[in-house]
Amino acid sequence: MPAIAIIGAQWGDEGKGKATDLLGSNVDYVVKFNGGNNAGHTVVVSQEDGHSEKYALHLLPSGILTPGVTPVIGNGVVIDLSVLFEEIDGLNARGVDTSLLRVSANAHVIADYNRQLDKVTERFLGSRRIGTTGRGIGPTYADKINRIGIRVQDLFDEKILQAKVEGALELKNQILTKIYNRRGFTVDAVVEELRSYAARLAPMVCDTGLLLNQALDRDEVVLLEAGQATLLDVDHGTYPFVTSSSATAGGACTGSGIPPTRLDQIIAIVKAYTTRVGEGPFPTELLDDQGEFLRKAGWEYGTTTGRPRRCGWFDAVIARYAARVNGVTDFVLTKLDVLTGLEQVPVCVAYDVDGVRHDEMPVNQTDFHHAVPIYEYLPGWWEDISKARTFEDLPANAQAYVKRVEELSGARISVIGVGPGRHETVVVHPLI
Ligand code: GDP
Ligand code: IMO
Ligand code: MG
Repeated sequence: MPAIAIIGAQWGDEGKGKATDLLGSNVDYVVKFNGGNNAGHTVVVSQEDGHSEKYALHLLPSGILTPGVTPVIGNGVVIDLSVLFEEIDGLNARGVDTSLLRVSANAHVIADYNRQLDKVTERFLGSRRIGTTGRGIGPTYADKINRIGIRVQDLFDEKILQAKVEGALELKNQILTKIYNRRGFTVDAVVEELRSYAARLAPMVCDTGLLLNQALDRDEVVLLEAGQATLLDVDHGTYPFVTSSSATAGGACTGSGIPPTRLDQIIAIVKAYTTRVGEGPFPTELLDDQGEFLRKAGWEYGTTTGRPRRCGWFDAVIARYAARVNGVTDFVLTKLDVLTGLEQVPVCVAYDVDGVRHDEMPVNQTDFHHAVPIYEYLPGWWEDISKARTFEDLPANAQAYVKRVEELSGARISVIGVGPGRHETVVVHPLI
């Protein structure tokens, strides 16, 4: 059985959590392969009696909400252990069983000094800041690449942990005290904090790469769930306004230990319009009433930081780029319901950069900053579409919008979101 990856096509918050939850009952494992608690996935689970429960997940894969699914935190993730246990306790208190959770021994942990460094670096950058979530993500990945990171397995050998924290602090304390004029950290305090989680973490820790490959050998279904998205990917995104991990389909392999040859379905989640949190270029951004309309109608406020999300029209150049970079087999088009009530719905089909038309992402980031959207205007619809369950249930103009977006985006649209609930979904082609 092949592994399936779910990735974000834009700048995050496309509705990956809902899509993962939707597929939950058809899969055996759900793996988070990148990022950490910078992610925020809101999942609305409707009960049989019509009552619905809302969950906000950050570090745990969204599949944790489906009974029987084994949730896995892969080696590509950076873990804030206090957040991990807070999230587990929060779910347990609401009756969600988290006992199947498995955590990679090779995943890195976010130490207190990296949370601190994330915040002070942003302050130091001033107008050049990235607008990070302040969770210590960037500095922890930097340590990993710099080979001074602390891994989950280090927590179980006090001597090794002591030596590694000492090594890291030799550098980090210099930066904190001499560049940022802050207080340094003591080795003992950092070691003590990390060690305090060791006993509770131990039973969850294993070689998750082996676990997942063995599951695939047994014909079980493994779903890999990305945090963040294509344009926030450290290689393929709008660098430097990106996160520090590989959020694209390639990252699903390096971040889980599942080889590329076992991955043959790549599902990209794409919003029917575009949003972005934090700094960086965004060609279709709307700074007027129309942007406010999308923010209000789509409730575009960050799940993690509560920041209002920047909003703009659908950008087909970005969707095509995501289809290419990830090898997308299916798109899930989310939040189509949010566009209801517009006279016309603009879709960006290409960019004008200083008089030159670009049908693909400009090579140069400066050109992307200067990109002016070339819009096609499609007729809108007024009918409530939240009850639609088949493509034919959608009004003709909504159908035409989906068809045009599909033509422009380079892969078929298999599922359409018409509301936040699990059932508020139109399946055109079943995904699994
Ligand atoms: P993620 O980070 O990609 O998992 O997305 P978020 O959870 O941060 O943001 C997506 C938001 O849209 C959440 O509040 C979802 O409940 C909501 N959502 C997902 N799909 C739909 C949809 O089709 N329609 C509407 N109205 N809301 C949706
Ligand atoms: P989900 O998984 C939207 C953005 C931050 C900032 C940049 C770097 O919910 O789609 P970081 O703290 O990662 O170093 O911040 O990336 N960012 C997100 N934006 N959705 C996310 O996750 C994000 N995770 C990080 O706002 O611009
Ligand atoms: Mg989110």
